[in-house]
Amino acid sequence: MKSIRFGIIGLGLMGREFASACARWLHLPNMEVRPEIIAVCDTNIENAEWFRAICPSVKHVFTSYTDVLSCDDVDAVYCAVPHNLHAKMYCETIRAGKHLLGEKPFGIDLAANEQINAAIAENPHVLVRCSSQFPFTPAMQYICDMLEGGAFGRIIEVESGFLHSSDLNPEKPINWKRILAYNGEYGCMGDLGMHPCHVPFRAGFIPRNVRAVLSNIVTERPDASGRRVPCETWDNATLFCETTDPATGGAFPMTLKMQRIAPGETNTWYFHVRGTEASDRFTTKNINAVEILTYDGSRQNWETVEVGHATAFPSITGGIFEFGFSDAILQMWAGFLYELHHGKPIKKFAGCVTPEEAALSHRLFTAALKSYASATVEPVSSSPKE
Ligand SMILES: NC(=O)c1ccc[n+]([C@@H]2O[C@H](COP(=O)([O-])OP(=O)(O)OC[C@H]3O[C@@H](n4cnc5c(N)ncnc54)[C@H](O)[C@@H]3O)[C@@H](O)[C@H]2O)c1
Repeated sequence: MKSIRFGIIGLGLMGREFASACARWLHLPNMEVRPEIIAVCDTNIENAEWFRAICPSVKHVFTSYTDVLSCDDVDAVYCAVPHNLHAKMYCETIRAGKHLLGEKPFGIDLAANEQINAAIAENPHVLVRCSSQFPFTPAMQYICDMLEGGAFGRIIEVESGFLHSSDLNPEKPINWKRILAYNGEYGCMGDLGMHPCHVPFRAGFIPRNVRAVLSNIVTERPDASGRRVPCETWDNATLFCETTDPATGGAFPMTLKMQRIAPGETNTWYFHVRGTEASDRFTTKNINAVEILTYDGSRQNWETVEVGHATAFPSITGGIFEFGFSDAILQMWAGFLYELHHGKPIKKFAGCVTPEEAALSHRLFTAALKSYASATVEPVSSSPKE
């Protein structure tokens, strides 16, 4: 089996998820390629030492990311750092000739994202993708197959959202994700926005315009010493968009919702399509099932399809067993490595976010900020040049 030697920059929450996915690679018996973590880097040496202890393939432990990039053994990099570091680290990684899976939002703002895209344009031999794991959920893959096959008929409406409650407690101490300088002006859109955008963008549902409503609900939080400090980032965002189904040419409304303060949710991703021939209800709260409504001209029939573990990349887990967050991460990594090895995704909706899709999300979020500031409907450019 071919091995791709990885360096990880940023060994926090997501860096650890990648280490776990690598350790479980035997779950994917059909893969012809595997990741091997040989270098890790974090400014916090305790995180790096944890990796050294649990990950026997690690040969190099660094505190400066430039050491990862100058390491000849490293073929590819996973970069999971605060948003203010994306442009600098992603550009240097690409220019060092390393393949890159970067975390969203892929640059703290539009200008940062444009810098990353310029580095990609100069280095077309390097595979660069952005992380987003939820579409790899089997129930969602089922809906994606329906989208690809035109099973919904003319699309009437799409709602896609990502809701969690990480900030419901107003006494939770502030961290970098709630500070403008590290998280960026997008706030929750930068943190969460890629999740609801990934499948609609892959389906070709390009927002033509947006009217956004943003809220900052908790405006102060304690810092590590208990002192109350401003918490300036947007907690919740609702984006009302107008878009078109490329398959039929029909226009329809699309609502994208991202909330950090969503009572009753822990980490819920949902996706609803309403169409003239079929509609769906799917939420990760009931992760193994998709509800499908079919309309036969007289009756509206809901059925529940128990999808189970029918993953895009076959797994040793039995088909009837439940799927979870870390399984989605593993599938996403299979998607990245498959594309690196074979030159294209295994199927349309089982590939990581492309730089073009990430760039579209930046144009949407930038227009959303303007829309909310001026209470206007703002156009969203369909290409970077417009
Ligand atoms: N795909 C997902 O579901 C998902 C979930 C959470 C976060 N994220 C994204 O992942 C990225 C990281 O988020 P996280 O939750 O892992 O954050 P985190 O705070 O848990 O980890 C970030 C790590 O980066 C390290 N770091 C900071 N500056 C550094 C530097 N100069 N050099 C090397 N390391 C440095 C920190 O010490 C920390 O260990 C963000 O872009 C975030 O949006 C994605």
